[in-house]
Amino acid sequence: MQSFKYYAPTYVAFGRDTENRVAELVKKYGGTKVLLHYGGQSAIKSGLLPKVEKILSEAGIEYVKLGGVVPNPRLSMVRKGIEVCKQEGVDFLLAVGGGSVIDSCKAISSGRFYEGDVWTLYEHKDHATKYLPIGCILTIPAAGSETSDGSVITNDEVEGWLKKDYCVDEFRCKFAIMNPELTYTLPAWQTACGITDMMMHTMERYFSKDDDMEITDALAEALLRTCMQEGKKVLENPTDYNSRAQIMWAGSLAHNDLTGCGTSGDWATHCLEHELSGMFDVSHGAGLAAVWGSWARYTRGENMPRFARFAKNVMGVDTAGLIDLDAAEAGIQAMEQFFRSIGMPTNIHDLIGKEISDAEIADMADKCSTGDTHTVGGLKALCMADMVEIYKMAR
Ligand code: NZQ
Ligand code: ZN
Repeated sequence: MQSFKYYAPTYVAFGRDTENRVAELVKKYGGTKVLLHYGGQSAIKSGLLPKVEKILSEAGIEYVKLGGVVPNPRLSMVRKGIEVCKQEGVDFLLAVGGGSVIDSCKAISSGRFYEGDVWTLYEHKDHATKYLPIGCILTIPAAGSETSDGSVITNDEVEGWLKKDYCVDEFRCKFAIMNPELTYTLPAWQTACGITDMMMHTMERYFSKDDDMEITDALAEALLRTCMQEGKKVLENPTDYNSRAQIMWAGSLAHNDLTGCGTSGDWATHCLEHELSGMFDVSHGAGLAAVWGSWARYTRGENMPRFARFAKNVMGVDTAGLIDLDAAEAGIQAMEQFFRSIGMPTNIHDLIGKEISDAEIADMADKCSTGDTHTVGGLKALCMADMVEIYKMAR
């Protein structure tokens, strides 16, 4: 087992009506003037936002509102948020929404006291030293940003756009309020994208070269099986509290590093996907489903027994008598079949609704490898030429 650091400091308030604790938790973590950050319409329509405003006001906590965060959150919104925080003396960021709103808060947090351009941090050219604290009320289980150290932002100020991440422990939320009932209003598509994303967060850690972390593997396999089983139930009955709750908790456990302890992980599928959602503004979860099978077929030779184990322990394939290659292929097909069964695309054409061109593939591979100067992936280090091949396999 590889040495590891495990740091999951987020206070989780999970269950019905937990949003009622928002003022108490903001105060507990020192907030006196809050930036209330949210997305498009969902939190207003559901009544959550007005409810939060009332609770904050009644507790005597001042707040300013900044809505309009879109999926694949934009740098231009981050800049707006930083300005508002400076002008209004904000000392606490409260995200009401999903990964996009939380990630936007994280970027604002890092940019608030940073003297340079906040994008420099996402270019990995510098580190901020002071951050604003963040709390969240989660409304979509998916990205796992409520417990992760990451933030992914799309730079909408450059030609062709660029999506990049910045990961630091200071980005871990002080608290995450998670009421499964707040997810009842999610459309089936968003629910399915979320299930795919949390499964991929687990699989990116699972498919590594390390084979000696039984406890971590067993946790990961249980998490994946639960996502498939409860995911189906949730899609059939969107107001099934118990299934919504299993999925919501799975999303956090999938990305707080629990299933990464002792493994070196891979993350190439995420890197390949971020180029797709950066270029075509598609949902992150759907983009992952579109490329995963091609990535798996391209790289499985690096650790075939692990793909065979996945087939048996996660996908329930009867691998008796199969050579590892056949077992691996059966597992990959079963995973793709699951993705399709919940409405996810398993190729780029179905994802973007058109044939992707060679030039677009070349552009994505160029960005993903920063002009062929770095590789992605722990199972197999992919250079620009590998990326082109995988995108072509997935087209
Ligand atoms: O804007 P509104 O109207 O709120 O609608 C949102 C949005 O359109 C809607 N929604 C959210 N809660 C809802 C709801 N609709 C009805 N009822 C509710 N309760 O859902 C849509 C998607 O929301 P978004 O926040 O974009 O989804 P998600 O949580 O999947 O976040 C995706 C972003 O997170 C990044 C992705 O790249 C993407 O930009 N990621 C962040 C990570 C991290 N910080 O650790 C890791 C991930 O791998 C991922 O890259
Ligand atoms: Zn993800």
